[in-house]
Amino acid sequence: MQEDHPNLAKSLVPVADYPRSDLEFGGNKPKVLPKEEKSSKCLVYMLAITVILGSVLLVFATIFLRPRTPRFDIGSVTVRNLKYENNSSSPSFNFTLVTQVIVENTNFFGDFRFENSNGIVGFGSQVVGQMKIPKGRTQARATERMNVSIDVSSLGLSDTKKLSSSISSGLLGLSNHVMLSGKVNILNIVRRRRNPDLTCFMTLNFTGKAIQDLKCYSYE
Ligand SMILES: *[C@@H]1O[C@H](CO)[C@@H](O)[C@H](O)[C@H]1NC(C)=O
Ligand SMILES: *[C@@H]1O[C@H](CO)[C@@H](O)[C@H](O)[C@H]1NC(C)=O
Ligand SMILES: *[C@@H]1O[C@H](CO)[C@@H](O)[C@H](O)[C@H]1NC(C)=O
Ligand SMILES: *[C@@H]1O[C@H](CO)[C@@H](O)[C@H](O)[C@H]1NC(C)=O
Ligand SMILES: *[C@@H]1O[C@H](CO)[C@@H](O)[C@H](O)[C@H]1NC(C)=O
Repeated sequence: MQEDHPNLAKSLVPVADYPRSDLEFGGNKPKVLPKEEKSSKCLVYMLAITVILGSVLLVFATIFLRPRTPRFDIGSVTVRNLKYENNSSSPSFNFTLVTQVIVENTNFFGDFRFENSNGIVGFGSQVVGQMKIPKGRTQARATERMNVSIDVSSLGLSDTKKLSSSISSGLLGLSNHVMLSGKVNILNIVRRRRNPDLTCFMTLNFTGKAIQDLKCYSYE
């Protein structure tokens, strides 16, 4: 029993010493000549392992920690409460668009939190509706779908000529522009502002009371 203690202490010492002697290789070199070859091989291995480990970490970081901009899209648009005056003296329309907003977060480890965001619906160069996307959160590798209602009205329009010709033609060309302002937070290590931007073009068919030819383009 008593003999075991010194043995234990002896066997512990080299184990604790080896990494240090490897690190302070230069100092040991002249003293222990037979060990030189072994030690230099060891150093090469350690360097190689360090380089490989570093590369693996770099690749890992590039793939998994790089903040990607979430995909932002409008899946479908339905028309509710369509009312219009097909009349050259006082043409007008009003309706509600229910849009299915899609936020797809392609980040492996980071969630995407977005703030209250505003968008517009345009008829030509004039604004006919305001879009409000409430703040939200899309988890990593998840897709969030929200129904967002937009009240659209010709009330503020000054160009009645274009309005009247659009309504009598039965088709109304609309645009929709919205930007989501948010942040991607990856494991509390990387935080980046990401503002996916969306522009859509669509046509309202008055007699069909539906949206057709929906085309969306996302930027950033
Ligand atoms: C909606 O449009 C109809 C017909 O154009 C009109 O009679 C009505 O007053 C409008 N309502 C609103 C809230 O603008
Ligand atoms: C056109 O509008 C005028 C003025 O608002 C209205 O008196 C008339 O009844 C409308 N005509 C039709 C066909 O809706
Ligand atoms: C969104 O609207 C669609 C179609 O009207 C409905 O099926 C769905 O349940 C709605 N989703 C939410 C979250 O309200
Ligand atoms: C509007 O009136 C014109 C002429 O009467 C007609 O050809 C057109 O189909 C009408 N449009 C709609 C959307 O009702
Ligand atoms: C508008 O909708 C009606 C009914 O769905 C359809 O018959 C018509 O072809 C549409 N108009 C256009 C220009 O697509």
